[in-house]
Amino acid sequence: MKAVIPAAGMGTRLLPATKAQPKEMLPVVDKPTIQYVVEEAVDSGVTDIIIITGRGKRAIEDHFDRSLELEQRLEKSGDDQELREIQRIASMADIFYIRQKEQLGLGHAVLCAKKHLGDEPFAVMLGDDIVVNDRPCLSQLLKVHERTGSSVVGVESVPKSMVSRYGVIAGEKQGEDLYRVTDLVEKPTPETAPSDLAIIGRYVFEPQILDCLEKTGPGMNGEYQLTDAMRALCTDRDLYGLKFTGRRFDIGGKGDWIRATIELALERGDLASELRRSLGQLLERDGEG
Ligand code: G1P
Repeated sequence: MKAVIPAAGMGTRLLPATKAQPKEMLPVVDKPTIQYVVEEAVDSGVTDIIIITGRGKRAIEDHFDRSLELEQRLEKSGDDQELREIQRIASMADIFYIRQKEQLGLGHAVLCAKKHLGDEPFAVMLGDDIVVNDRPCLSQLLKVHERTGSSVVGVESVPKSMVSRYGVIAGEKQGEDLYRVTDLVEKPTPETAPSDLAIIGRYVFEPQILDCLEKTGPGMNGEYQLTDAMRALCTDRDLYGLKFTGRRFDIGGKGDWIRATIELALERGDLASELRRSLGQLLERDGEG
């Protein structure tokens, strides 16, 4: 199984931080966002990864490449732990890069990988969504795919007021956390949303999605939308929505990015007590003010 990670978007919700650096490289605690996504793929058993990049995204390639100069320096200074970590990052997966030459939307970005996907199922993982859980989100989706032989998308209940940020599914409940998708709408208004089940950035697709993508014209904002192709897919094939287990952060937005950094730092043995103290002081000062 291969995973496609679209990472060509401009990151306008995070400006000015993303003016000259990819949003996928913004750190959450001390790791770039995209490293969490690649690690989730690897932890789910996927080591063949295609990252769709674009202009200004070179830092992603550099991050997963070896840095011999840095390795030599860490070796000399005896920073063995750092050295091992730097080497691990460069060797954890086989990563291939494809450039999306024009920003024509998520559907178009996925289609850029078509030649390299063959006639096999594949995963799509959005480069700015992080899901934290002992059992990786992608492996939860892969399990459903294995059982059903059909495409699966990760979904999460969101407040109705927030549906317009997402693709939203309509579905028939098939079990505790599983839905058979009957319709999908990209970024509906709260009034027109078919449910509160938002698509998050994890998908496992049967190869037929690529035909649907090719046949789907531009949609919302004039972009080729993955959601529209999924809508076509579910008219003659099963598509499932899985309410996955885990905490999801949308790093493409400022609020979630800050929340992710704080939450994940509070779980780190080396950072938690100092951060807890600082946060306590800040809240106390806030309360007084
Ligand atoms: C994309 C998809 C949308 C999905 C969302 C998840 O939107 O088009 O269907 O719900 O990712 O993060 P974007 O965040 O690129 O606007």
